[in-house]
Amino acid sequence: MSNKIQAVRGMNDVLPADAAPWQHLHAVAAGLFATYGYRELRLPVVERTDLFRRAVGEVTDVVEKEMYSFTDRGGENLSLRPELTAGAVRACIEHGLLFHQQQRIWCSGPVFRYERPQAGRYRQFHQLDVEAFGIATPDVDVEIIAIAAALWRRLGVGGFTLQINSLGTPQTRAGYRAALLEYLRAHEDALDEDSRRRLGSNPLRVLDSKVPATREIVAGAPRLLDHLDAAAAAHFATVRRGLDALGIAYTVNERLVRGLDYYTHTVFEWTTNQLGAQDAVCAGGRYDGLVEHLGGPPTPGIGFAIGVERLVALMGLQGAAVPAATPQVYFCHFGDAASAQAPRLAEELRASQPKLRLLLNAGGGGLKAQLKRADASGARYALILGDDEAGRGVIQVKSLRGEGEPLTCGWNELAERLARLLAARPDAT
Ligand code: HAM
Repeated sequence: MSNKIQAVRGMNDVLPADAAPWQHLHAVAAGLFATYGYRELRLPVVERTDLFRRAVGEVTDVVEKEMYSFTDRGGENLSLRPELTAGAVRACIEHGLLFHQQQRIWCSGPVFRYERPQAGRYRQFHQLDVEAFGIATPDVDVEIIAIAAALWRRLGVGGFTLQINSLGTPQTRAGYRAALLEYLRAHEDALDEDSRRRLGSNPLRVLDSKVPATREIVAGAPRLLDHLDAAAAAHFATVRRGLDALGIAYTVNERLVRGLDYYTHTVFEWTTNQLGAQDAVCAGGRYDGLVEHLGGPPTPGIGFAIGVERLVALMGLQGAAVPAATPQVYFCHFGDAASAQAPRLAEELRASQPKLRLLLNAGGGGLKAQLKRADASGARYALILGDDEAGRGVIQVKSLRGEGEPLTCGWNELAERLARLLAARPDAT
């Protein structure tokens, strides 16, 4: 065994060369969520294990098999969060944000699930999560789905399928559960082992089994949509009309039940056929009983979470435009007088152009070595300041990418000259 320390399986580094789309996604998402009136809520990564047991459900895969749980030195049972919704509800209850008021919030960050790692499925991954509390009407279901659709547009990604379904009220679900159970029990011998085990605990999950033999049985199962009561059916119909009115295409997938227990009414998933087996990029739904279940005032809720790794992968595959993050300018300086002046000149340049990405040579080296670093940095221009230039109050500006002849200019006009040169060819990746 090598004694090199490596990252934990399924937990990835995002290297500097790959971070630009992450930064872009977060900036675009935060800006977009604000335009819909959603404000950021920042949550701890660790919560009490009980929170997830109660919120996500005892017999879900997430709680049964996938949580990173531990006892801390004080004897508390804690878990790394496997999702953000439970923490968001906990925080809103704890801080009294749900009494007679609506809340529109978003959160983001790493979440942890002990799943079998493969392309698009990790043990630490990241979510961008949006939640609306205190609104029972279907207009907010449409708003929540529209936010995701708007994000795809702003990022320039597409080709998704939006699948929606309704799980109705807990009563509808209970009635349906009984009918489904009766049907599945009659076909128990043909079900796979996992599904047979679920009969006793969470038979709805049998509906989204991927085992072919089980899928055949499921094809003949009673339909959840047939069990919706009038109010739930009307709610779902209004959501569909709202999506139609906004021109958001969807398909109704009656088998969409979701892997977390808290859902009621509308559930949805945005999937893509460009990422292989891990095809869900964004998923969510309504959870009208969850706040009360966790000890808060009766408060409806709805939201979604985006899998950031999957969305970033899709942005890459589809060539979504991402602002460049490499330096634009590399500042070479050599000789005592020049090197004494260079830091102040660099600070002035950055202050006069707050978005300028300027790398100041550090660690010495002759001009040749510095120009080599400049080239490797990806910068478009090198600034060259030797003692001769420093004595005259000038500096050389040299293109590293064949964009015109070198020029010499005075320090007082440098900021303006650079701005013009850089604007001549706007940044892209
Ligand atoms: P979820 O479907 O469990 O829902 O996860 C949301 C998204 O996270 C998935 O659609 C997928 O993109 C991504 N994801 C899930 N597991 C992994 C993994 N192992 N590796 C990489 N990406 C993954 C929730 O978490 C709910 N809290 C969503 C929600 C918010 N419902 C209401 N509000």
